[in-house]
Amino acid sequence: GGGGGGGTEEGPKDPSEIVVGFAQVGAESGWRTANTKDIQAAFEEAGIELKFSDAQQKQENQIKAIRSYIQQGVDVISFSPVVETGWDAVLKEAKDAGIPVVLTDRAVDSQDESLYVSFLGSDFVEEGKKAGEWLVEEYADSTDPVNIIQLEGTTGAAPAIDRAEGFAEVIADDEKFEVVASQTGDFTRAGGKQVTEALLKSNPDVDVIYAHNDDMGLGAIEAIEAAGMKPGEDIKIITVDAVKDGMQALADGKINFIVECSPLLGKQLVDIVKKVVAGEEVEKRIITEETTFTQEEAVEALPDRQY
Ligand code: AHR
Repeated sequence: GGGGGGGTEEGPKDPSEIVVGFAQVGAESGWRTANTKDIQAAFEEAGIELKFSDAQQKQENQIKAIRSYIQQGVDVISFSPVVETGWDAVLKEAKDAGIPVVLTDRAVDSQDESLYVSFLGSDFVEEGKKAGEWLVEEYADSTDPVNIIQLEGTTGAAPAIDRAEGFAEVIADDEKFEVVASQTGDFTRAGGKQVTEALLKSNPDVDVIYAHNDDMGLGAIEAIEAAGMKPGEDIKIITVDAVKDGMQALADGKINFIVECSPLLGKQLVDIVKKVVAGEEVEKRIITEETTFTQEEAVEALPDRQY
């Protein structure tokens, strides 16, 4: 051991002495896979040991993983909470054990902000607003009703709650927009396909699908095509993420607009971990910078898209 949380007479810990435990949500989407890869690569590159677990989208598995990291006495615990609520007890255990926690990607709704040192990730409400703003612009010249199906992310997850909220806030200004159905597809392609299949039957006159991620949008494309319609034309599709498969569908005209959510959080997480271990101050909230893509912009961006 190299002397506790840094700043002792022995000097700061060498990266090779740091151990981090990361409890990932799962492998539910292209975004998540890219996120995992990026985090693992960044720690490898920094020469910091990363213990990694995949919770398969189950909170109980994440809690188990965090408890095991506490028991192993890692230097820092990081995780991306599958849902927002229910974390106080385990976070308190980490705090009592003197292990700092860094949230990545998704927030917890805890009242006690001392339970984590930093939260690195996107502003999901803002992403929902950007999706809504594109829609408002797209239908600016029409007064006809616009029927929308919303494919929600995992129930109770921050990105599902916030992307619905931001979107609803923007479209509320104009009565012609109506969300005629809204159901979870759990951020997966299979979920998006299944829900779209069912909802198209009960809502044949839908104009727009707003999916909380690319994967569900890609599932919706399959369902729309199976129903004999043209995605992107007969039914417009808006998604969030901008992973390669989503960008390809956008460039192909099957998706109409994508709001970017960047999975590349690895390098910033490494920086936070190093600072925390050295006993330095870190920012409580670090917001990821991201953009949006039209079909033309996707054609241009695709060749350089890394994930
Ligand atoms: O928390 C980020 C979201 O989780 C991504 O938008 C989605 O694709 C992933 O599953």
